[in-house]
Amino acid sequence: MAIARNTHYTGGLVDLDTGRVSREIFVSDAVYEEEQERVFTRAWLFVGHESQIPRPGDFFMSCMGEESVILCRGRDGRVHVFLNSCRHRGMKVCRYDEGNATVFTCPYHGWSYATDGTLVGVPFDREAYRGKLDRSELGLVEVAQIAIYKGTVWATWDPAAPPFLEYLGGFKRYLDLGLDAWDGREGGTEVLGGIQKWIIPCNWKFPAENFSGDSYHNISHRSVDLVGIGPSGSGRRDMRERQVGRRLQVVFPDRGHQTTVYVLPGEEPAPPAYQQSPVVSDYFRRCEESRRRRLGAWARVTGAPGEIFPNTALHPRQPRTIAVWHPRGAHRTEVWRWYLVDADAPTEVKDFLRQYYIRYSGPAGLTEQDDMENWNYAHAASRGTIARRYPYSYEQGLGFEVEDYEWDGLRFAGTVMDITEAKSSEHNLRNFYRRWAQFMDARSWDDLATWRRRDGRPS
Ligand code: FES
Ligand SMILES: [Fe+2]
Repeated sequence: MAIARNTHYTGGLVDLDTGRVSREIFVSDAVYEEEQERVFTRAWLFVGHESQIPRPGDFFMSCMGEESVILCRGRDGRVHVFLNSCRHRGMKVCRYDEGNATVFTCPYHGWSYATDGTLVGVPFDREAYRGKLDRSELGLVEVAQIAIYKGTVWATWDPAAPPFLEYLGGFKRYLDLGLDAWDGREGGTEVLGGIQKWIIPCNWKFPAENFSGDSYHNISHRSVDLVGIGPSGSGRRDMRERQVGRRLQVVFPDRGHQTTVYVLPGEEPAPPAYQQSPVVSDYFRRCEESRRRRLGAWARVTGAPGEIFPNTALHPRQPRTIAVWHPRGAHRTEVWRWYLVDADAPTEVKDFLRQYYIRYSGPAGLTEQDDMENWNYAHAASRGTIARRYPYSYEQGLGFEVEDYEWDGLRFAGTVMDITEAKSSEHNLRNFYRRWAQFMDARSWDDLATWRRRDGRPS
């Protein structure tokens, strides 16, 4: 077995027996370089949403780790993800954020590529190359695997990675909470407006950890709660289920995905309508009723922040967004945030949600600003020679995780921590670092796929 001590990456930088994680994994350039190779070339990464490229020739410039990639729909309607780098001398073949193209023509020497990646144009081909250039060898580099799931597009560079749904494992139903329509119909969401992009001075794992389910940082958001940016335009920033539901941390140890969920009691009445307008109130009331009819007991489960390993965060409900933490060196992260709405929702509902989303999330969102301030200062204060000697503490709830938790007729696969009474646990965060350590230790997907938990049971 290649991973002898999967809880102790590289001489103890991640020690899950004691709940200690070295600051080196956040601030060391050497660790950063290694994780580019070991994490970002192997994992499935979120690339974009089909609704961004509805027509043949549509493209959206995305990223996988540090690499610029083109998400595009070929003339035949097939979706592709290409490395945005010319095979001649590496120039970006496309420098626009999005658009529609019949070919991508490299601005440097003019090689051009069709929307299926084929090299179709080479200036002075006959004269300079004597017609000997083998174009079939020099198409755009394409990802090894691509998956489209309920409109979202995912890709990996690793041909040995398991299929996307296997990679998701039991987390699929939590991703569904963000991708299914508000009334519980499968899929049906689209991207609202453009993508927000901004840069923060911290390692990408700070936000990834926070969205894995930092249940301890509510103090950071006290001012936002006082301001009252809630969905109805006043009151708490979040929704009612947070006050009345049971609060669970659900993790999948063999996958590295984790989330917080709220489970409403069986007798909970339909949530109060939003006060903004009759159209908006009516829409959400009808959606909730249909959701309950469709999903039965599962309708009582509502999603809260979660993280799909490694760098895709999900906020399924309030607000409904997907964020990607693109690494930009050990000390910088470029955040991209997509906002989702029901494609067939009335314009009034979309406008209402846009306003709520923007005052909550993104660079101008009050809640996200609180979070960013913590991550940025924590990173800066962890870089010094002295600071780096002291590991962070992740000890909350150590040893109290429950397998296959059950409450009020609902069963939850994976490992669960009920934090309704305990208030907080760092169970979710340990799970994120456990999988990170496995990726860093593993030689290949063979190691990652065959990993067993230390107690010997299959995970
Ligand atoms: S770098 Fe693209 S044609 Fe030379
Ligand atoms: Fe937060």
